[in-house]
Amino acid sequence: MRPPILIPRPETEHWVTKLAETVRPSTQKPISLLDLGTGSGCIPLLLCHLWPAGSVKAHAVDISPHALSLAQENAQRTGILPHSDHEKKPRNTFTTSMANLLAEDFPDTASRSNSPFDVITSNPPYIPWKEYLELPRSVSDFEDPKALFGGPSGLEFYHAISRLISRSDLLKPDGIVALEVGHDQADTVEALMRDTGRFRRTEVWLDPWGKQRTVIAQA
Ligand SMILES: C[S@@+](CC[C@H](N)C(=O)[O-])C[C@H]1O[C@@H](n2cnc3c(N)ncnc32)[C@H](O)[C@@H]1O
Repeated sequence: MRPPILIPRPETEHWVTKLAETVRPSTQKPISLLDLGTGSGCIPLLLCHLWPAGSVKAHAVDISPHALSLAQENAQRTGILPHSDHEKKPRNTFTTSMANLLAEDFPDTASRSNSPFDVITSNPPYIPWKEYLELPRSVSDFEDPKALFGGPSGLEFYHAISRLISRSDLLKPDGIVALEVGHDQADTVEALMRDTGRFRRTEVWLDPWGKQRTVIAQA
């Protein structure tokens, strides 16, 4: 980890570990995963680490070149590398692309060429303007405002992700979406996912402190 990239939080590790136990891909039934706003790469890299070798191809996007360079460094350190044709042993793979997920032309070429995905994950920036101004300096001085600020209401990225899921073929028809949310956003984000019309089931997972932390939507 290093400034200005978001320091991975224990609540993120908690839901990602639960997701790893819920989805359970295998070498015989491998899956693809897209992580939006990857920062240090902690979400896809933890999943690549927890799932069996050869069971997942992960792709991650971020708008920040610093974040992507740290994510690639972390991937190298953990031995989770891009696909290579010369390799015989099955392995989980990790690739990245720089993209703005709020842009009209998202998904970018790299995300499109890896799509459709079985799993889409994101811990997007979700702090509303008013709360951003009140953040302790230990957070606002260290971490990139782009990693934290989710637009005036804090919900800008969830609206973008829900539009993306409704309008593009980024997610497989039987795919799953897992979104980390801020302390009072779960009900709104769950409704946004339901309104896409793509999911049979939605639920909210609590973090270890009993707070509503992750919206899960399953097609
Ligand atoms: C809250 S941080 C989460 C980082 C990491 N996923 C984690 O859980 O620690 C949000 C990330 O979204 C990225 N981001 C912000 N705006 C973005 C945009 N418009 N398009 C793509 N990524 C963006 C930031 O650079 C940051 O790395």
